[in-house]
Amino acid sequence: MKSYTTKQVAEMAGVHRDTLLRWLREKRVPEPERDRNGWRRFTDKEVEVVVNYAQVLSNGKGHSSGSIAEQEPYIDSIVRLQKLDWDFADAKTGFLTHAIHPYPAKFIPQIPNALIQELSSVGDTILDPFCGSGTTLVEALRLDRHAIGVDANPLACLISQAKTTRMTEDDARILFELAEELSRMGHGRANDMPLLFPELSSMPDAPRPTFKGVHDWFDEQVIDELAHIKSKCLKLETEHLRRLSLVAMSAIIVTVSRQDSDTRYVRRKKNISLGDTLQQFSRSLRNIAQKSLEFSDELQPYVTANVHNANILTCPDIGEVDLVVCSPPYPNAYSYHLYHRTRMLWLDMDQPQFKKEEIGSHRKYSHKGANAATVDTFREEMRTILDWLREHLHPNRHACFVIGDSTLKGEKIKNDRLIIEVAEDVGFKLEANIPRRLQSSKKSFNPTIGNIRQEHIVILRNKRT
Ligand SMILES: C[S@@+](CC[C@H](N)C(=O)[O-])C[C@H]1O[C@@H](n2cnc3c(N)ncnc32)[C@H](O)[C@@H]1O
Repeated sequence: MKSYTTKQVAEMAGVHRDTLLRWLREKRVPEPERDRNGWRRFTDKEVEVVVNYAQVLSNGKGHSSGSIAEQEPYIDSIVRLQKLDWDFADAKTGFLTHAIHPYPAKFIPQIPNALIQELSSVGDTILDPFCGSGTTLVEALRLDRHAIGVDANPLACLISQAKTTRMTEDDARILFELAEELSRMGHGRANDMPLLFPELSSMPDAPRPTFKGVHDWFDEQVIDELAHIKSKCLKLETEHLRRLSLVAMSAIIVTVSRQDSDTRYVRRKKNISLGDTLQQFSRSLRNIAQKSLEFSDELQPYVTANVHNANILTCPDIGEVDLVVCSPPYPNAYSYHLYHRTRMLWLDMDQPQFKKEEIGSHRKYSHKGANAATVDTFREEMRTILDWLREHLHPNRHACFVIGDSTLKGEKIKNDRLIIEVAEDVGFKLEANIPRRLQSSKKSFNPTIGNIRQEHIVILRNKRT
């Protein structure tokens, strides 16, 4: 039976491909079947419905193209997004793989979910150029879109990859077995049972790390147990099993270290007992295996996720995309290279390189010398990024930035205004700037440097023709 692509049908109906995609999304015309690669294949009958629908519209309006809807696709979606209650007060945020690893300032999944649903169609490609722990990527895949993530932080990329990994029952079994083995070992060490289980009394040989400060940040028995866990993870057969197990290890590192918390790089005593680290890892690994299985169950076979570990300012080549959804770093808000330092060093990642590349880090803005970053530094960085985004984003499609204010040397910086100003200058049109209240109970912002109560969802449209 003959079938037609979306592009062909749009041409036959005399409308832009984006218009047809919007009609499909809004269920104005029937959704066709997809081929094994996930591409839509319209039958003759379905083509006829689309062509008729276009004609009816064209008769009603005088012209089918050149209407406001043609020039501004998604205009209804923007109105709906403006009316949405963005508080998501009681929404659950830790479902599927979203909470397998802590990540400061990650956004709640409901935000990218709403933007992706309204501003893209099934089969589209969604980019997060600051993907962090992969919230946008997970939501894009769940909504049957392809996902591309970029982040300069190698740990962010590892977490994003792990969160979007497809897990089979066999993979999960291997991880559950490792969790069980290390839990037994942890139990043996905690209960000092060398006679019953002689191999548990001392840790088997595993290379201990030598990075600067390791003995300041970790108790000796924690170093032993983490080294053993790491060697076990690295011995797993496939790359994605190694990745998932290393993320399970990374997830517990701050808890078992002397680091105060995920957003405070100062030491305090914690009394981690013998065997505790093994037990915590085992729980973390079980959780990841379980959540990845549940996530994989929801995925369509054709959707793909690609994560690039790159400095966005080097304008990496990522191909064309249909929608951008991100929460960028902003001046003086965080120092990911610091909060993640011990994790990155345990995982043999190039932490000094990321420290150089990190945009917005507190360290760069609090620098005393002439090299200290200023609001102009951030403005120029945003200009490079927005220029680059315009080249990769299809014409008339959207780039969404979720961003709060920051304080620089006592002065409040309205980052939403700054981004809009630069974006308009390089050729985007502002579609909406929606304020969103932050829950006061939310601890993700450090009050001493940020004190952010409100953030903005800035929606821009690429005017490129
Ligand atoms: C606010 S976080 C994004 C959190 C993400 N939305 C999530 O839900 O996990 C900002 C991210 O920007 C990344 N970043 C900072 N400088 C960067 C650069 N030069 N290139 C790419 N990513 C960078 C940081 O590593 C961090 O992950």
